[in-house]
Amino acid sequence: MVSATEADFLIVGAGIAGLRAAIGLAEVGRVLVVTKEVLGESNTHYAQGGIAVAMSGEEDVALHLEDTVNAGDGLVNREAARVLVEEGPLRVEELLAWGTGFDRENGRLMLTREGAHSRNRILHANGDATGAEIGRALLAHARGHHNITLLDWTTTAELIVEEGAVTGAVLLDADGRIFTVSAGAVLLASGGAGQVYSDTTNPAVATGDGIAMAWRAGAEISDMEFYQFHPTALSLPGVGRFLLSEALRGEGAYLRNARGERFMERYHPLLELAPRDVVARAITREGMGEHGGDQLPVYLDLRHVTGIDLVKRFPGISKFLAQHGLNIATDLLPVRPAAHYLMGGVKTDLDGRTSLAGLYAAGEVACTGVHGANRLASNSLLEGLVFGARAAQSMPEAKKTRPSAAEFKPHFAAQPLPDIAARLKHLQENMWRDAGLLRDISGLRNERRDLGRSGEQTLFAPQRDSVELANLHVVAELIVRSALAREESRGAHFRNDFPQRDDEHFAKHSVMRELAVSF
Ligand code: SIN
Repeated sequence: MVSATEADFLIVGAGIAGLRAAIGLAEVGRVLVVTKEVLGESNTHYAQGGIAVAMSGEEDVALHLEDTVNAGDGLVNREAARVLVEEGPLRVEELLAWGTGFDRENGRLMLTREGAHSRNRILHANGDATGAEIGRALLAHARGHHNITLLDWTTTAELIVEEGAVTGAVLLDADGRIFTVSAGAVLLASGGAGQVYSDTTNPAVATGDGIAMAWRAGAEISDMEFYQFHPTALSLPGVGRFLLSEALRGEGAYLRNARGERFMERYHPLLELAPRDVVARAITREGMGEHGGDQLPVYLDLRHVTGIDLVKRFPGISKFLAQHGLNIATDLLPVRPAAHYLMGGVKTDLDGRTSLAGLYAAGEVACTGVHGANRLASNSLLEGLVFGARAAQSMPEAKKTRPSAAEFKPHFAAQPLPDIAARLKHLQENMWRDAGLLRDISGLRNERRDLGRSGEQTLFAPQRDSVELANLHVVAELIVRSALAREESRGAHFRNDFPQRDDEHFAKHSVMRELAVSF
């Protein structure tokens, strides 16, 4: 017997977008927020560098818009970007009012710079723990609201669709018990999918659940070929890919190759502060050496940086480095790119509406086109905040349906597939090799064949790891098919066999309906 519950609004995910939406929706109805792990575990929590926001007037806002559009390599939805930069200051003022402790000097908010920004406009908290501080403040505020129920250790497995509209979801509690939630509207705020690659800065929870569920429910998905690889994840044998924030380069860090050369001048006039996709590919190429042989080390170098106390400015990063025998100020820090942020996702309008009635999405899981082909550094927290708030304003329009999800009979495989961990590793390594930073037709076709053989995306049992593996298979399939269809190079999507940007044919967003890609 499957138990059932009800809410006016169901929110899947408790990062910045989900919590901000919950706070807005709580004014008009009962909100249930579910998250797979302990509250606070999300990509938001790990965001180091900061939140980009133009707080000093119209000129700053206009420049933030231009920087966002330029970084996106010809594919930014300008209207979405305008909303982002214009509404950002108001949303950040709210965060301040709710007690977010951004770093200050003599009482004034401190601002730093990151790649492709024309100004210092990035707020940070506790040096390099900005996402954790924003998440803390939002969670404290949400907890104070009697209309918000927060449910941790709860996996959302499937959306319930009745007569073309999403009316709820099927969930698994911490003990694997299945239950359904009926809701007037469902918001996907479940974040990214970095776990589809073997090298990622994302935590284990980032398994593309919202995208896979939306796709299985029949929603349109957009721009999946655009996965951002952060240029500088720490690269030490046996150590997970820990992010070394772009703010290090904002404070003056250089990149050096194995010969000690500062190589970025060969790639972009903005040097180390070039757009992220350019820096990530430059590091990969330098690491390959002239003859494409074994990976050579590439380093971040802060040894020349004076005038700031690096340990104080980057306490989390310094501590992690020290635990691995490295000193932030005096050692060369080995780095390599790692999957970081998905520009694509569930296609939405500027108010979070997807192509399915009753289903909304905001934050990394969604695709408004605001980032185009390459997200500007530190625009992701702002995106979650602005579009989470907008989704909260539009969701009350969804017609309240009868709670028929209570009668819904979920279909799960009786047994999980064997060797889930080995299957996951296989998927992640193949995706890194065939659909990573540098792609071509043979690798992508190879991966499409491999994914087609496995059939894991539809076959899953009612347990979290089984659901996540299925979801990652869907995400992989969507990435590979979109990457095959885009026969050009733009932003984060680089095809060795089509190295040029082709505005004549591809200055458009890709849209996937089932497994067909159109532009
Ligand atoms: C970083 O601190 O480098 C990450 C910020 C971002 O993803 O924009």
